Amino acid sequence: MIELRNVSLKYGEKEILHSVSLTIEDNTIKAILGPSGVGKSTILKLMLGLMRPTSGQVFVDGVEISSLSEAELFPIRRKMGMVFQGNALFDSMTISQNLGFFLRENLNLPEEEILRRVQEQIRFAGLEGYEEQLPESLSGGMRKRVAIGRALIFKPHMILFDEPTAGLDPVSSKKILSLISSLRQHNNLGAVIVTHIIDDVFNVADCAAVLYKGEIIFDDAAPKLHESEHPFIRSILSDKILEL
Ligand SMILES: Nc1ncnc2c1ncn2[C@@H]1O[C@H](COP(=O)(O)OP(=O)(O)OP(=O)(O)O)[C@@H](O)[C@H]1O
Ligand SMILES: [Mg+2]
Repeated sequence: MIELRNVSLKYGEKEILHSVSLTIEDNTIKAILGPSGVGKSTILKLMLGLMRPTSGQVFVDGVEISSLSEAELFPIRRKMGMVFQGNALFDSMTISQNLGFFLRENLNLPEEEILRRVQEQIRFAGLEGYEEQLPESLSGGMRKRVAIGRALIFKPHMILFDEPTAGLDPVSSKKILSLISSLRQHNNLGAVIVTHIIDDVFNVADCAAVLYKGEIIFDDAAPKLHESEHPFIRSILSDKILEL
């Protein structure tokens, strides 16, 4: 469904990604692991067409997106929900307004349909009773659930998570991970999870890719990480968390 083919990316003279090839299949959960600053968030931005590669190609459902205009990218982006690390909620809007905002802005749907979809996400994300609250009055884990609900509102095929459990306590992390697992069971969704936390990978991901110094050094079923001889992978398995 999403493929990066020989993608290189430079910021000025600095090459961040060097000939990265990566495929995310439908209905699978793939983790992308790597140290801080290696280019994980950049990969998500390339998948959404928010950035263009310096060379190489990005395919979404077989369509090469790096030469598309903003208008042409809109229907492509709707196939992918994005959950940002900081959630990117609107502070001055209620939870319901946050959930409905992009639908109201972008699709010409009847108000009843918008409210129906908002209600569906309120239930799915376990936010009943919080509809009229502002994000600041919610815990970190609940804000994350609002961000997930908002990403699902366009009924995407794939959902991209940037560090979904960063900064959450262990109980909230567990709830977010089980919500992510349930996405596939209930909605047949695929997911990409960028993470620093190796336990997240073993808890929810089917497969994993490890990005290190601009290159993919591992791309296989998650349990195969244990068989890797690569020193960086061995160090993240023993330390449990990637160095910041
Ligand atoms: N707009 C920009 N201009 C120049 N350099 C940038 C820009 N955005 C990111 N970078 C650099 O690109 C590299 C990759 O950034 P990116 O945010 O993708 O890393 P990351 O793996 O997501 O890191 P983290 O784990 O800290 O979130 C970093 O070294 C960063 O400093
Ligand atoms: Mg990042």
